[in-house]
Amino acid sequence: MSTVPHELTRDDVRALGLTGRDFLRELDFTQEELASLIDLAITLKSLRAHKNEPQFLSGMNLAAIFEKTSTRTRISFDVAMKNQGGSTSFLDASSSQIGHKESPADTARVLSRIFDAIEYRGSEQKIVTELAEYSDVPVYNGLTDEWHPTQMLADFLTMREHARDSDRLTYCYLGDARSNMGNSLLIMGAIMGSDVRIIAPEPLWPDKDVIAVANQAAARSGATITVSDNPQDGVPGAEFIHTDVWVSMGEAKERWAERIELLRPYQVNQDLMSMAGEDSKFMHCLPAYHDTRTQVGADIARDFNFTDGVEVTSGVFDSKANIAFDQAENRMHTIKAILVATLA
Ligand code: CP
Ligand code: NVA
Repeated sequence: MSTVPHELTRDDVRALGLTGRDFLRELDFTQEELASLIDLAITLKSLRAHKNEPQFLSGMNLAAIFEKTSTRTRISFDVAMKNQGGSTSFLDASSSQIGHKESPADTARVLSRIFDAIEYRGSEQKIVTELAEYSDVPVYNGLTDEWHPTQMLADFLTMREHARDSDRLTYCYLGDARSNMGNSLLIMGAIMGSDVRIIAPEPLWPDKDVIAVANQAAARSGATITVSDNPQDGVPGAEFIHTDVWVSMGEAKERWAERIELLRPYQVNQDLMSMAGEDSKFMHCLPAYHDTRTQVGADIARDFNFTDGVEVTSGVFDSKANIAFDQAENRMHTIKAILVATLA
């Protein structure tokens, strides 16, 4: 078992060779680079726990654009910058010129004159790609319709912390698999050499181009990729069971009826967790609809006759199998790693 370093210098960080890089999707980095970011997050997390965190980003400023709402990603960028001696300015569509009055290209040219890095959360991937093309400073994707790469660093760190064999993770994602989380879990596992099972009804499978790229990455890494509509093909033996909301941000409320029709058999409940295995863990990027204490959770329960949760039951969510809050904490440590690796 490797030991966590007791100190970290700027030279150690620069030796990773990631200075100035963008992080727009998992495929921007090699397996070695992604693994080195997770190692860096482990070191930064440990140093912070021991009150020995060095600051590499003093005087640096991050522009964080949130065209969609966020709790975890937003606070993780903010706290990571603060811990590292830097600061964050938040911009959104309603209080800035972004989107309606100014193009991503012009926004990038302005922000990179004033800031050291730019984070973007919004709809289309092509917006964050355009920001990166016109920016002189690193650009990070804080979630688009297509990809959620910073979430992947946290998910892989969390699985590594809990796995029996952290060199080859075995996990299954059930739910809307053609959305950001399904795409990202498929590609990240393919790059990292994992045993990845994507279980969803066929209309909600990742796009066939995404599956083709995953298969190419798997051929290089030794990953095993399963995409099936049958839980029996992916759940048994999966050490980690992932799911996500069935209707994502930016999708119309009217989508719920068709999504529920397709996904009801894929709810993560106790029967499904038992099929996975006794010690299997539950993961969710959050927020989750697991009870009626949110407006959406209550509306869905009433309108579609759900008696216990939507994509996950309260029994599973409240059980000791749930490691989604470790995952949430790890958003901050892993986002800090990407900031430090690219800016220090
Ligand atoms: N998991 C995640 O991205 O959470 P937020 O939407 O709260 O940022
Ligand atoms: N698929 C979800 C993820 C939220 C973090 C969404 O895009 O709303």
